[in-house]
This record gives sequence, C-alpha cells and structure tokens, in this order.
Amino acid sequence: MTRAAGMSDQPVALEPVGKGNRAAILALKLAPDQQSFVASNAESLAEARQDDEAVPRAVVAAGRVVGFLMYSAPEDDDEAIIYRFMIDRREQGKGLGRAAVAKVLEEIARLSHISRVSICYEPGNEAARRLYASFGFIEQGLDEDDEMIAALELSR
Ligand SMILES: CC(C)(COP(=O)(O)OP(=O)(O)OC[C@H]1O[C@@H](n2cnc3c(N)ncnc32)[C@H](O)[C@@H]1OP(=O)(O)O)[C@@H](O)C(=O)NCCC(=O)NCCS
Repeated sequence: MTRAAGMSDQPVALEPVGKGNRAAILALKLAPDQQSFVASNAESLAEARQDDEAVPRAVVAAGRVVGFLMYSAPEDDDEAIIYRFMIDRREQGKGLGRAAVAKVLEEIARLSHISRVSICYEPGNEAARRLYASFGFIEQGLDEDDEMIAALELSR
C-alpha cells in the first residue's frame, strides 16, 4: 500500500497501561476482516493482569491512544516475544504501525539480557508480514497453533 504524503514518520510514544488509558485501549477497533488476526484488547488486558511477564503498552500519537501492543521479555531468557499488536482501524495506513514497531524494538533493545525478538502473526496477514519483514524479521515457520513466527537478531 502507499502511504499518504506527509503522513510518514509520525512520532508515537509507548505508555504503560493504567487507569488513565485503559478505557481508550478498550475502545480501539479493527476492521471486521482483521479481527481474527489478534485477540481482543479486552482479552489481552485481562491476560496481562494475570501474567507478571506480560508488558502491555498503549501506542499514543498526538496525545491520543491509537493502538495497543504486548510483549514479554523474561529475565531468564534472551528472547523477547511481541505477541499482540494493533492500530485502530481509523488510524491505519498513516505510518503509526511502523513507528510503534520501531519504538517497541528500541524499548526491548534497552533490555541488556535480550538478543533476539520474535513476533507471531497469522500466515495470511500480509500487512503484518510486510511490516515486520521491513524491519528485518525473518520467517521461521509455523508454530503449533499454525501462527507464523518471525525472528530478529538484535545487533549489539
Ligand atoms: C498490521 C498493522 C498494525 C499495521 O498498522 P498501520 O498503522 O496500518 O501500519 P503503517 O501505516 O505503519 O504501515 C506499515 C507497513 O505495513 C504494511 N501494511 C500496512 N497495511 C497494509 C495493507 N493493507 N496491505 C499490505 N501491507 C500493509 C506495509 O508494509 C506498510 O509499509 P508501507 O506503507 O511502507 O508499504 C494494522 O494493519 C493492524 O492493526 N492490523 C490488524 C491487527 C494485526 O494484524 N496485528 C498484527 C498481528 S498481531
């Protein structure tokens, strides 16, 4: 797809999830044909409450919550896994997804015990495949749930 002129390189910030942004994260929506690509944000936030290793983040642009992602980076492992990622349907195609991936990779790269980042997506998810491949993620094959796993070695 072609990005609209002037919409690239939008600054985004990743913010911890809390009372101030939880409702906005729950209000984010995907197009109907995208809903099978990722668990709902309600499920992900519920999961994050139960899982100490889950790191949920609001994607914020121009002061508004535009997306959500979640990763884990266990201290006893050298691999981080980004396992939830979405940008609200009305905010897609503006470069925000790309900016959010760059930010989360920066955040993960600051964790000195991590040397590799994995990401998973449905094999038919062309937007995700192209986006992650452009950051150097290399497809590893399908996991036991038939999700594609792609990995990126961090250069240290
Ligand atoms: C994948 C997703 C996060 C991309 O967010 P976005 O803000 O629209 O992405 P960007 O505008 O930054 O585009 C980044 C790249 O993604 C790819 N892309 C985005 N939309 C695409 C589409 N409809 N078709 C093909 N490629 C697409 C392109 O490679 C694009 O780069 P380019 O504009 O230089 O060609 C968003 O489409 C989304 O939330 N999808 C539903 C949930 C999902 O699939 N999550 C990922 C798996 S967990």
